[in-house]
Amino acid sequence: MSSSTPAARPLTEADLPGCLELSRSAQWNQNEADWRMMLALGRGWGIDAEAVVAGSDAGIEAAAGAGKRRLAASVVVIPYRLLPGDPVGAAAGSDARRAAPLAGCAWVSMVLVLPQFKRRGLATQMLRHALEYLRAARLAPVLDATPAGYPVYLQEGFGPAWGFRRYRREPVALDPDAADAPRTRLVEARDWPGVMAFDAPAFGADRERLLRLLADRMPQAARVAEQDGRITGFAFGRDGREASQIGPLVAQSPQVAQGLLDDVLASVAGAVQVDLADRYLALLQGLVARGFVLQRPFTRMTTAAAPPGAPARVVLVAGPELG
Ligand SMILES: CC(C)(COP(=O)(O)OP(=O)(O)OC[C@H]1O[C@@H](n2cnc3c(N)ncnc32)[C@H](O)[C@@H]1OP(=O)(O)O)[C@@H](O)C(=O)NCCC(=O)NCCS
Repeated sequence: MSSSTPAARPLTEADLPGCLELSRSAQWNQNEADWRMMLALGRGWGIDAEAVVAGSDAGIEAAAGAGKRRLAASVVVIPYRLLPGDPVGAAAGSDARRAAPLAGCAWVSMVLVLPQFKRRGLATQMLRHALEYLRAARLAPVLDATPAGYPVYLQEGFGPAWGFRRYRREPVALDPDAADAPRTRLVEARDWPGVMAFDAPAFGADRERLLRLLADRMPQAARVAEQDGRITGFAFGRDGREASQIGPLVAQSPQVAQGLLDDVLASVAGAVQVDLADRYLALLQGLVARGFVLQRPFTRMTTAAAPPGAPARVVLVAGPELG
């Protein structure tokens, strides 16, 4: 255990190499564009490897490696404005002990520790730093835990709400006929009010900025389904370090979800990963038939009464780092 506690400091663009090293060390998928996007939407903190080594009474100097800005640990928070009537806001409003109503919720993500610095309390320290910030900003913390992170969050007062699982497909040759009769179409500028109205009850918070950034990053995956001029579902995607991620995908029914997924996948030849809500196991057969393989489970957790939104229409989450 370290003899003194190294301080967490804000992450900036100069830390992108250190951030990427952390993603790589855990075999996570975030690329530089992801880290830039997360730091633009929210804020991050890190602990310098050098500071951990300097404060350590154990011999980890050799493991720390060179580089002044090398990061030993990270955390990111991404705030979202809650929508009126969301259960998180309502629960907070009825809590007489809370001095002021919540300003929103925030995803706590990128809790990463380099392998040589694990089990020294760094994840706990980063999490507590982020939670302190969120308490002061009156933002309810929400996160999607890996099995490795789960015990850390449980210990810090988070409770489980619902689960999803990551599936991954390796690169394929595109079928030239597959997109012949699409059931969905690309998002157009006029669709945004409808997309946001459809997303509101599902996600429970306003993530328009995120969805617009995703539409720019992977335009061919930004699709809507509609019926009688009304949006009945949408999908977005993004590039990644090892695979493109498709999600969020929100749909009024499994049939609409399947149409969106088929049309998006018809346009992506490279490796693809999706985070499928456990309640949408109906879509799993189709994924397995396309070569998708289970990677790992995640658990949505919060310290509030419930996470925002009503997950019945959430088929693919945006990703554990985004919500
Ligand atoms: C999960 C992770 C962040 C934990 O980092 P860490 O700095 O080693 O965690 P801490 O030292 O703060 O551990 C806090 C407590 O959580 C529990 N804990 C942490 N890792 C654990 C594990 N692998 N198994 C069981 N309990 C664990 C322990 O109770 C630990 O306290 P203790 O060591 O005094 O018993 C780190 O292993 C990591 O980067 N993993 C890969 C990325 C990841 O999964 N991140 C979580 C995202 S949700």
